Amino acid sequence: MLLVTGATGNVGSAVVAELANKPCKVRVLVRDPARLGIRAPNIEVAVGDFADAASLAAALEGVDAAFLASSFDVRMAELQMRFVDAAKRAGVARVVQLSAVGANACRCCVRTLRWLGQVEQALQTSGMAATHLRAAFFFQNLLSFGESIARQGVIAGPFRNIKWPWVDARDVGAVAAAALMDSAHAGRSYDVTAAEALTYHEVAQRLGSILHVPIRYLDVSANETRGHLQASGSSPILVEAILELWDAFASGFIQINPTDAVRTITGRQPRSLEDFACDYRARLLKAAGSNAA
Ligand SMILES: NC(=O)c1ccc[n+]([C@@H]2O[C@H](COP(=O)([O-])OP(=O)(O)OC[C@H]3O[C@@H](n4cnc5c(N)ncnc54)[C@H](OP(=O)(O)O)[C@@H]3O)[C@@H](O)[C@H]2O)c1
Repeated sequence: MLLVTGATGNVGSAVVAELANKPCKVRVLVRDPARLGIRAPNIEVAVGDFADAASLAAALEGVDAAFLASSFDVRMAELQMRFVDAAKRAGVARVVQLSAVGANACRCCVRTLRWLGQVEQALQTSGMAATHLRAAFFFQNLLSFGESIARQGVIAGPFRNIKWPWVDARDVGAVAAAALMDSAHAGRSYDVTAAEALTYHEVAQRLGSILHVPIRYLDVSANETRGHLQASGSSPILVEAILELWDAFASGFIQINPTDAVRTITGRQPRSLEDFACDYRARLLKAAGSNAA
């Protein structure tokens, strides 16, 4: 039995899509079954929450390998550690963990990467076999710029003129599904990226040509971005966590080159920005308020 957590999320939903109708039994852990987009005869649903020990124990019963992912938030490490403990108690043999490029338990100045590194470390010392998927920035994050594209034709942020490592979340899901099904990936860590790194200038220009709307990148200060993030309702701690994460990449403190993990593990080429934009065209254009769909 394979267990998929975060099954309604960007990556988890892709893991479920990859495993649907495969010759394996799959259980998904969800807080709200109505949010689960994919159903298949080999998929059963367990309702639960990382914060609810009893629901975790029930979901983990009879599980051989699990995919671990939860939201990017301040409780990420705490909730995932609870899962690691519960999985160990339940006798799970392998865990495939969604981590991030640059994750490191000793990363003092980038707390989110430290949190994910701490989960990596907890898994490594748990006695369970672990695979860490250190994913690059998801193309899907670009959906959050829909409103500013619609209003101003702008993608704005403190991203500087540096090449960022990107990946389509669906490719991370495909790698996770492959790692769940093949124990040869146990004990491995993979940087999971698309084939090329791109600056935000390049992203804006290429999205504009695919969507046939003018889009430009506007570099703004971290302080201005702080105001926007606060206005969007993020907690003060999360706002600072996001800013320091972006600064670590924008300043070149963390540099990650593209890898061929997607191709070697799934046998498929990683999706490009163009693939992403075409597949999400309707959502991007709807967000951009255009009639050009
Ligand atoms: N965005 C990026 O560029 C990026 C890059 C690299 C790594 N990451 C990492 O990827 C992770 C986020 O992955 P994602 O984008 O696929 O997630 P997501 O789309 O934000 O979805 C989060 C998933 O976790 C579930 N979840 C949250 N809290 C839970 C709880 N207490 N109990 C049970 N389930 C819970 C959510 O369920 P509900 O539907 O109930 O909310 C949802 O299925 C974070 O750890 C982040 O650091 C992100």
